[in-house]
Amino acid sequence: MGSNAPEPEALTVSAPATSANLGPGFDVLGLALDLGNAVVIRRRPGPLTVRVTGEGVGELAEDETNLVCRALLRGLDSLDGLEVECRNRIPLGRGLGSSAATVCAGLVAANALGGLRWSPDDLLAHATALEGHADNAAACLNGGLVAVAPGMGVRPLDAPEGLGFIVVIPEDRISTGAARAAMPAEVPLVAAAATLAHAVGLVLALADGDLEGVAAHLDKHELHEPYRGPLVPAFGVIRGLVDRRDCLGATISGSGP
Ligand code: HSE
Repeated sequence: MGSNAPEPEALTVSAPATSANLGPGFDVLGLALDLGNAVVIRRRPGPLTVRVTGEGVGELAEDETNLVCRALLRGLDSLDGLEVECRNRIPLGRGLGSSAATVCAGLVAANALGGLRWSPDDLLAHATALEGHADNAAACLNGGLVAVAPGMGVRPLDAPEGLGFIVVIPEDRISTGAARAAMPAEVPLVAAAATLAHAVGLVLALADGDLEGVAAHLDKHELHEPYRGPLVPAFGVIRGLVDRRDCLGATISGSGP
């Protein structure tokens, strides 16, 4: 993501969509996509105004309860005198990190407007506090393919040459809260151990540029898919198509669908 100030009084922060839980990397692996939101902020006298255009128009709050304002308020004492415009292109509730993009854009804007000197780790910590998980925010803040581990911040991973991603976006929505609630508090040890092994295998295969290895590990995950798969329309059909289309695998993007 990045920011620039085309006019002295306007700050534009762009923030990409992200796909989290890459394969077995539940809550730890994510990647940024070629789609994104922009937040444009201008200073002018008067109380806060918020305007949403694009995705979520008429649905997302146009006041200080908007997520972008909650992110801004982590760094700024007051939002008076700000005109905030959310130019949203990321569909809501489709597992593409729309909330992470909003949160990260708000935090980066607060950092710039408040002269806060937050480091990338500070930004990630604030985003994780607001999001409840770090994988979307890590990919959004850093770009590319990333891993995030406790105490280690964001680690970029090299994507092998020729690796591409196709996102299938159904009309149906799933909230991250509902998708997290669909998962049990505990999983069998054998499922946890197998998923851990495949997550490490996937990271090693990515580092080696080993596409066969990526295929061997990408859709082997037993922490969330058994519980969330039934919530995703036609997931079994998509899996079946992938098997016949020379793709490396199919995985639920974030919390789905
Ligand atoms: N890791 C998060 C989850 C991603 O699966 O709940 C949500 O986009």
